[in-house]
Amino acid sequence: MERRKFLKNSTTVTAGLISAPILASCGREKTTVAPIQDSKTVLPIVICTWNFENASARAWEVLSTGGTALDAIEQGVMVEENDVNNQTVGKGGRPDRDGNVTLDACIMDKDGNCGAVLAMQHIANPISVARKVMEDTPHVMLVGKGAEQFAYEKGFKKVNLLTEKSKAEWLEWKKTSKYKPIINIENHDTIGMLAIDENGDIAGGCTTSGMAYKMAGRVGDSPIIGAGLFVDKEVGGATATGVGEEVIRTVGSFLIVELMRQGKSPQEACVEGVKRIMAKNEGRNDFQIGFIAINKKGETGGYCIQPGFTYRTYSKEGHVNNPSNSFLGT
Ligand code: GLY
Repeated sequence: MERRKFLKNSTTVTAGLISAPILASCGREKTTVAPIQDSKTVLPIVICTWNFENASARAWEVLSTGGTALDAIEQGVMVEENDVNNQTVGKGGRPDRDGNVTLDACIMDKDGNCGAVLAMQHIANPISVARKVMEDTPHVMLVGKGAEQFAYEKGFKKVNLLTEKSKAEWLEWKKTSKYKPIINIENHDTIGMLAIDENGDIAGGCTTSGMAYKMAGRVGDSPIIGAGLFVDKEVGGATATGVGEEVIRTVGSFLIVELMRQGKSPQEACVEGVKRIMAKNEGRNDFQIGFIAINKKGETGGYCIQPGFTYRTYSKEGHVNNPSNSFLGT
């Protein structure tokens, strides 16, 4: 029996309320699940970092036809992984300083199950490999060659992730960089996505090629559960974009979910998360971090250190690009 496959129990949806089902699992305590919906709920809904219109539209397609939040996340972020014009996610991503494209991703479901791949090369869809880690192994994280090997065993094809465009830019960078990675505040296209489906089930995913021209082996926040992503069906979820080192130091996404648990709105929680980071970096304005969050009612929020941050929301109420205030001004 797969360790983290939960036995489906009696989830029934009545008049906008989900009855509290009892989940049983192999190797886990039985858990009573709190209802996720109430009369104010706007579900289903998906939100993602930045203005990723195609990714959120794909996720919405899944949700609006009765699909699960988990499938919406995988299908949604995969759009960016496959877009070679997006140079910070998936194929086409900028390489590390040695010219190797390494990808990071994680995924988390309503039951706290999660999977991640770190510094994986030659595989175009790390989010799907992360899901396989979650569903088909007893582990949470696979890294480097191990992740790649696992992907081949699961039928993923070996591909060249370095496009001519990213290669040419890297070669240009090498001419003046003295081989030093620098903080790149423009590295802002990591996609983090959170979704709640019509059953009230929540899931999240985060995928990136990481910091451009990073040192070989460097991994940021995006595949780290609690840092780049965290979801908890009792509360909601959060995900991050920007300089991963700072997000890891604050366990940012977990922090934001915990702040929501204490009663803050998603917006208030994102603001507080950014403020905590800035308090540790007094006087600095050379890096960027943005958080987005959703609570179990479907209320959303987003906040960033640098100006110019937006996040996208897709629900029955519309398809909205939400400009967000920032710590350093709008
Ligand atoms: N947030 C992406 C990274 O730091 O790698």
